[in-house]
Amino acid sequence: MDTLRGRDLLSIADLSRAEAEYLLDLAAQMKIGKVAPRCPKVLGLLFHKASTRTRVSFTVAMYQLGGQVIDLNPQSTQVGRGEPLPDTARVLDRYLDAVAIRTYGQVELQLFADYARIPVINALTDREHPCQILADLLTLRESFGTLAGLTLCYIGDGNNVAHSLLLGCALLGVNIRVASPPQFAPLPDIVAQAQALSGGKSEVTVLTDPQAAAKGAHALYTDVWASMGQEAEAGDRQPIFRPYQINDQLLALADPRAIVLHCLPAHRGEEITAGVLEGPQSRVWEQAENRLHAQKALLASLLG
Ligand code: CP
Ligand code: NVA
Repeated sequence: MDTLRGRDLLSIADLSRAEAEYLLDLAAQMKIGKVAPRCPKVLGLLFHKASTRTRVSFTVAMYQLGGQVIDLNPQSTQVGRGEPLPDTARVLDRYLDAVAIRTYGQVELQLFADYARIPVINALTDREHPCQILADLLTLRESFGTLAGLTLCYIGDGNNVAHSLLLGCALLGVNIRVASPPQFAPLPDIVAQAQALSGGKSEVTVLTDPQAAAKGAHALYTDVWASMGQEAEAGDRQPIFRPYQINDQLLALADPRAIVLHCLPAHRGEEITAGVLEGPQSRVWEQAENRLHAQKALLASLLG
């Protein structure tokens, strides 16, 4: 397989295991300059939420592939004035070669994809963040030389990042444990999908005890306690999530070689201490860099 031409990526589980492994290999080759295809195509970025890494890494990836990017800020397009998504999708479809969308509901993303013939990429919804997880798995594989036999432990909110980690790890046979407060556990249908993807060959565990989850893990991963769109809940969430901080005590329970991951932006002193984020086991800057390589591989594959 050398292309995913014309495909959508609405969920990390839209990839087969072979396709995900292919993307990680291609990203690694692109990182060392082995593959540099010319791709004079245009990607639209339709973002309803703020973004630094996703926006810039998609833009730079397109430039490095010889393509262009158009920023479709909802405030400066008719999207912000309520033009129906199916109409926007059918028009943009005729101008663009692909579109990356950051929005709230997966339903809106799916609706756009239903009406657009071009590839539609999930650049984060409330449900999933698949592009992030491609970079995370690349970082994990770089750190250990393989994904085989590894256990990734996610501590915190059962959010979009947790969902895509559950699915992405299960897809590639990485053991995944998610520890969240009971009322903030990942969605049951995502957990069931992850269990189905793992085929019983790797661990998919959801629990509430962060210490039990961290024990012996090869990677500790966390994300903010209140995601974009949940700002009003941030204060109420603080005391509930306090026991779910990644700090030196929790890291000491993990495998001695364990790496620390965070999709960023981070809130030091909340979901992670400054010491751990900036410490020797942190790989967060490599992880952020890998967004570029993973998305370049994805774009090159989707655009053919
Ligand atoms: N990790 C991530 O998606 O970052 P941005 O919100 O800055 O794009
Ligand atoms: N869960 C976070 C991820 C940010 C990259 C959010 O959705 O805001």
